[in-house]
Amino acid sequence: MITRRDCLKLSAAAGLALATHPRLLMAAEGKRSLITRTIPGTSEQLPAVGLGSSASFSRIAGEGKVEQVREVLEAFVREGGTVFDTAPSYGAAEEVAARIAQETGLNRKLFWATKVNVAGRGGGKADPAAARAQIEQSLARLGKEQMDLINVHNLGDVPTQLGLLKEYRDAGRVRYIGVTTTFPGQYEELERIMRSEPLNFIGVDYAIDNRVMEERIFPLAQERGIGVLAYQPFGRSRLWQKVDGHVLPDWAAEYDIASWGQFFLKYVISHPAVTVATPATSQARNAIDNLGAASGRLPDEAGRRRMFEHIRSL
Ligand SMILES: NC(=O)c1ccc[n+]([C@@H]2O[C@H](COP(=O)([O-])OP(=O)(O)OC[C@H]3O[C@@H](n4cnc5c(N)ncnc54)[C@H](OP(=O)(O)O)[C@@H]3O)[C@@H](O)[C@H]2O)c1
Repeated sequence: MITRRDCLKLSAAAGLALATHPRLLMAAEGKRSLITRTIPGTSEQLPAVGLGSSASFSRIAGEGKVEQVREVLEAFVREGGTVFDTAPSYGAAEEVAARIAQETGLNRKLFWATKVNVAGRGGGKADPAAARAQIEQSLARLGKEQMDLINVHNLGDVPTQLGLLKEYRDAGRVRYIGVTTTFPGQYEELERIMRSEPLNFIGVDYAIDNRVMEERIFPLAQERGIGVLAYQPFGRSRLWQKVDGHVLPDWAAEYDIASWGQFFLKYVISHPAVTVATPATSQARNAIDNLGAASGRLPDEAGRRRMFEHIRSL
């Protein structure tokens, strides 16, 4: 029989555990402990769901809705998110988000991934001085001496701009470098660059209804030890239209999925090549919903097949 004294002892012990165990502490603070992935070739862990900033995020930044941008960023970090993907070409997104991050001190908590491209897409040449000025502008906006990640956007003049990024990495002003594309016409060139360049990351489009990356690019990323940022995990509006009017299948609960956003994201982050998925949102509640995909159970290979066959059948 448990006496009142035993009860008090037990609750004191539980209180101590709560105060000292980091996982319980996070729960007590309302934070989740998120599923993380290791950056290949390092021991650095990143939460498997991040935050993108084109689309609706860049729209609210461009409309001057600074409070709304702040709410999204604060909710994201409060819930344990770190990876923020942006670019100087996303309208006002980088400038507004960086200003807020500096003011709130979030710039010290976020893993800031931006891009460089002064060459456009499709064979244009980059003026090295202009590319350097763009990188310096991103660093100044964030108010940090060192950027976490800079990618060459849309494979714009890779020899010049990746060359510059290598100099920045050697000088310790950027920790990781890479390249991005979401254009099928550039996938072959992407493969060539992945084989020949010392990349830390690539950023590519990947979603449950857009799985071409699984064929060649993801196996190559695994072979070469290159991290993967998964862009457009909802196909922007494409997947939302697809599931419009449909409820989640009951079996989604087997993977701790509580929303369509989590369904789409759990598919993406359960691929072993994916380091971080970066969905964009303009809504704090959606940022929180999306981070929910980085907790609980993930589907195995059979579960992944069941998921994409379900989407295909709608
Ligand atoms: N070449 C490149 O470097 C490149 C290319 C493409 C994308 N990217 C990066 O990848 C990021 C993601 O791609 P994306 O922005 O094109 O599209 P996306 O993330 O696939 O979709 C964004 C859309 O989904 C909605 N959404 C987000 N979370 C939701 C939720 N939980 N419930 C309901 N709706 C939700 C957003 O609307 P709400 O605002 O209403 O939430 C927004 O309209 C970009 O922002 C960018 O950072 C990079």
